[in-house]
Amino acid sequence: PTPVIAIDGPSASGKGTVAALVAQALGFHYLDSGSLYRLTALAALRAGIALDDEARVAALAASLPAAFVGGEILLGGEPATEAIRREECSAGASRVAALPAVRAALLERQRAYRQAPGLVADGRDMGSVVFPDAALKVFLTATAEERANRRHKQLIEKGMSANISTLLQDLQERDARDAARSVAPLQKCADAELLDTTQMSIEQAVQAVLTWYRA
Ligand code: CDP
Repeated sequence: PTPVIAIDGPSASGKGTVAALVAQALGFHYLDSGSLYRLTALAALRAGIALDDEARVAALAASLPAAFVGGEILLGGEPATEAIRREECSAGASRVAALPAVRAALLERQRAYRQAPGLVADGRDMGSVVFPDAALKVFLTATAEERANRRHKQLIEKGMSANISTLLQDLQERDARDAARSVAPLQKCADAELLDTTQMSIEQAVQAVLTWYRA
């Protein structure tokens, strides 16, 4: 079967950056599964559908008019790359992600990314639910303080204003919701390698994943 590297972990751990670089190094495809939950939340917010209306949000997720075109994410043909990164979409994504019917609606869509020569997928349940037969599973984390610092730096670089203590509180709330939900809670699988990147550079984290994969 086509190899998959599953990289799961909490918010702002840097798993997206690491996953994209690992994919690039190996010439593999890359799936940012969080963007599908973010797009679902954005579509619901735009359509005025309550984020806890499981049936209607799941119907939206099942027919999400999303496209990934050269680094730009489109929803219904309109640019959504920036909008899905805003805090309301982050919080909204973690709310719709707690609904079992929404997760079920996105399952096959995620599996369709598994194409030769391979796939690197990042999220919360890549190793546990979506690709349980992944060739390598990594649980990538860092302390909450370090993650808040990284998100802060990222926002400042983009010219956006941000407050570290608010960011820390937001990501701790989101982690708590992701870990407490009944379906696919955020947790390290027994067969996943633990990668604590608190004291690591991005390049070191990428090398660690590549070394495990090639071993
Ligand atoms: O980039 P960041 O880690 O902040 O978030 P993300 O990976 O884009 O995911 C946004 C939200 O989607 C998370 O807080 C989760 O609630 C949810 N999610 C999920 O439940 N399962 C996934 N495979 C990916 C994301």
